[in-house]
Amino acid sequence: MDNLNQNTQREQWGSKIGFILAASGSAVGLGNLWKFPYMAGRNGGGAFVLVYFIILFLIGFTLMLAEITLGRHTQLNAIGAYKKISKKWAWVGGLGVLAGFIILSFYSVVGGWVINYIIKSLTGAINIADPEILGGMFGALVGGTVEPIVYHGIFMLMTMIIVLGGIGGGIEKSSKILMPGLFIMIIIIAIRAMTLPGAIEGIKYLLIPNFEAINIGVVLDALGQVFFSLSLGMGCMITYGSYLSKDTNIPESATVIPLIDTGVALLAGLIVMPAVFAFGFEPGGGPGLLFITLPAIFAQMPLGTVFAILFFFLVLFAALSSSISLLEVCVAYVVDEWKINRKVAVFGLGFVMFLIGVVASLSNGPLSHVTFIGERNFFDSLDFVASNILLPLGGLLLCIAVGWIWGTDEALAEATNDGKIEFKLAPLWIFLVKYVGPIAIAIVFIRSLM
Ligand code: TRP
Repeated sequence: MDNLNQNTQREQWGSKIGFILAASGSAVGLGNLWKFPYMAGRNGGGAFVLVYFIILFLIGFTLMLAEITLGRHTQLNAIGAYKKISKKWAWVGGLGVLAGFIILSFYSVVGGWVINYIIKSLTGAINIADPEILGGMFGALVGGTVEPIVYHGIFMLMTMIIVLGGIGGGIEKSSKILMPGLFIMIIIIAIRAMTLPGAIEGIKYLLIPNFEAINIGVVLDALGQVFFSLSLGMGCMITYGSYLSKDTNIPESATVIPLIDTGVALLAGLIVMPAVFAFGFEPGGGPGLLFITLPAIFAQMPLGTVFAILFFFLVLFAALSSSISLLEVCVAYVVDEWKINRKVAVFGLGFVMFLIGVVASLSNGPLSHVTFIGERNFFDSLDFVASNILLPLGGLLLCIAVGWIWGTDEALAEATNDGKIEFKLAPLWIFLVKYVGPIAIAIVFIRSLM
């Protein structure tokens, strides 16, 4: 995806499946594999999953369609797209770029942990079944000073190099093999996890809602998680949609992508939670859950070491295909709007994100006593501000921008290729985007402040 100016043809995805793969590549990432299981564990399991699904159906699909449509219509980056609908709305795109900036800063730290675990599985260091030792090992990594920063730097550098090379070619091609590969691997691992002795308690914990556990904190976390996992609310799908050709079936893409994304998140939950109960970990154990339970499962599998290496490698790929979309949004903005050279933009932005990530990484160790919003360390605060505030706010404003400023008639004309594509749920979508989305998000915000 090179910076092409107005008078040349804008680069497009190589094929229809290319777009779905790239967009699901952006959606499927650490948000599904690492964050979803521990957020569910922290928020009462089934209670969280139920609320997640309600928000997914009311807001997730709706906004996915809205973002892709707006992107293809304007053929512009997040800020440019808002500007085109109305000059006064450019700042909403700016809010999104800010959110992406914050997210990648801590996302890259987690990406670094994954690289470290690839190495740990190559050397056989995690070939252990003892929960205590595995917990200690994770704690030692993230609580360290230099080590996690080095891996965070490597992840950031990989992201920058791929974005510099352009997203179209390499990523689109490798996605075609690696995404299905990831899917097959998680299914196999989930089957192993779910057949562990005692696993049934974990499955019940994840899938049977305990209604008493639902409170406004759970709802806000689930809302943030839907946005984070689907890459919504910051103009990522606007940017990806802007490279879409005029004959794509947008309603279909906007249905398939969230379904793939949710499938992967659920499977990750069905890997982690059964293992949590089978091995006697804590469901509310926090960000280490994936990294502690996985090795314990691999230790119970024939060819476990091979599985570990392959799987962490695929997790890294999923993380990179998401991180590049975060960086791309910020780069596309700087390049399109400020007319800055692409190379300078990639390295400049990447470097500042790296520095913020350094502080985030240290906040899991030497700086853990410095707390911000509600006793959260810096790392969790970045996540909270971006995922639970900026993204839903971006989503709320997107609903208003598309539903009321741009107008649903125009949006639907674009989404259906001027009526050539049948979209039976159009009236429902209009209702959701104009009323349900903005009102529901506003209510969650107001309630969580009370
Ligand atoms: N969705 C990705 C994940 O689940 C993360 C991500 C990529 C993202 N692009 C985004 C999150 C844009 C929010 C907005 O890992």
